[in-house]
Amino acid sequence: MKLTEDMLVIKNQELAPGIYELVLRGENVRLMKEAGQFVNVQLEGKGFILRRPFSICEINSPEKEFKIIFRVQGEGTEHLAGIEAGERLNIFGPLGKGFPESALAEGETALLIGGGIGTPPLYELARRLHDRGNRVITVLGFQDRDGVFYEEEFSRYSEVHIATMDGSYGYKGNVLELIEDLGLDFDILYACGPMAMLKAIQEAYGKDKRGYISLEERMACGIGACYGCVCDKEGDSPYQKRVCKEGPVFGLNEVSI
Ligand SMILES: Cc1cc2nc3c(=O)[nH]c(=O)nc-3n(C[C@H](O)[C@H](O)[C@H](O)COP(=O)(O)OP(=O)(O)OC[C@H]3O[C@@H](n4cnc5c(N)ncnc54)[C@H](O)[C@@H]3O)c2cc1C
Ligand code: FES
Repeated sequence: MKLTEDMLVIKNQELAPGIYELVLRGENVRLMKEAGQFVNVQLEGKGFILRRPFSICEINSPEKEFKIIFRVQGEGTEHLAGIEAGERLNIFGPLGKGFPESALAEGETALLIGGGIGTPPLYELARRLHDRGNRVITVLGFQDRDGVFYEEEFSRYSEVHIATMDGSYGYKGNVLELIEDLGLDFDILYACGPMAMLKAIQEAYGKDKRGYISLEERMACGIGACYGCVCDKEGDSPYQKRVCKEGPVFGLNEVSI
């Protein structure tokens, strides 16, 4: 089976201002094995040479469908927001390494920490960990009430807590302050969001908790060939890590942010 496929757009709808939920159908869904992997989307016209990477948010194997959630950032995502059901998009993937579910033992509790548009890959993970019988707690952080999405969806599989920076919804403050205020206890954490959030998580939990973080970098090839997406490795090794190939999910202390 080839990694590239023209997939059918089933749905593309705005969830919150500038945030879209895009559902695609195709054979390659069969290859999607891990929460946290991503796909590279080819955009037609306007000189979009580089594909745009997006995390897989939900995998619906029986229907051969998967979902991404994206935020309009620039020209590419603005174009993507205009794509309608019935059109086709060329998808390359799944790519990269996802969140290891087996790191969580029976009876253990997982804490999922999502920041803004870093939230989507945690959704498939929440579903899988819940279905394994583990307790799942999700803490999501957004700028304000308008930016909040997927609270109800996450609550199907986990205990959900929301923080907004301006306090217009849920707790006023960031996700780490909320976790501390609630005194949440957990065995392992999985996180995706802005680099500053991931760095703060490393500093807070890197010494005494197990965990995995998903990074984002500007990408070109998406398959480890161009070294355009490297990040620094922790420790003495001279080799950098490619976010698209060795990641995007890394052990909590595996990379230096
Ligand atoms: C592994 C991976 C998974 C991702 N998953 C998602 C997702 O689930 N949902 C989502 O909305 N976005 C995701 N992104 C970011 C997404 O790829 C970029 O927002 C998108 O490529 C921007 O394209 P554009 O043409 O609209 O913007 P551009 O015109 O290329 O850039 C506009 C702005 O977006 C920033 N930007 C561009 N590329 C990236 C990037 N790779 N990471 C961070 N900022 C970027 C630029 O710095 C610039 O400020 C992911 C990125 C990676 C690497
Ligand atoms: S994007 Fe080319 S090596 Fe990662």
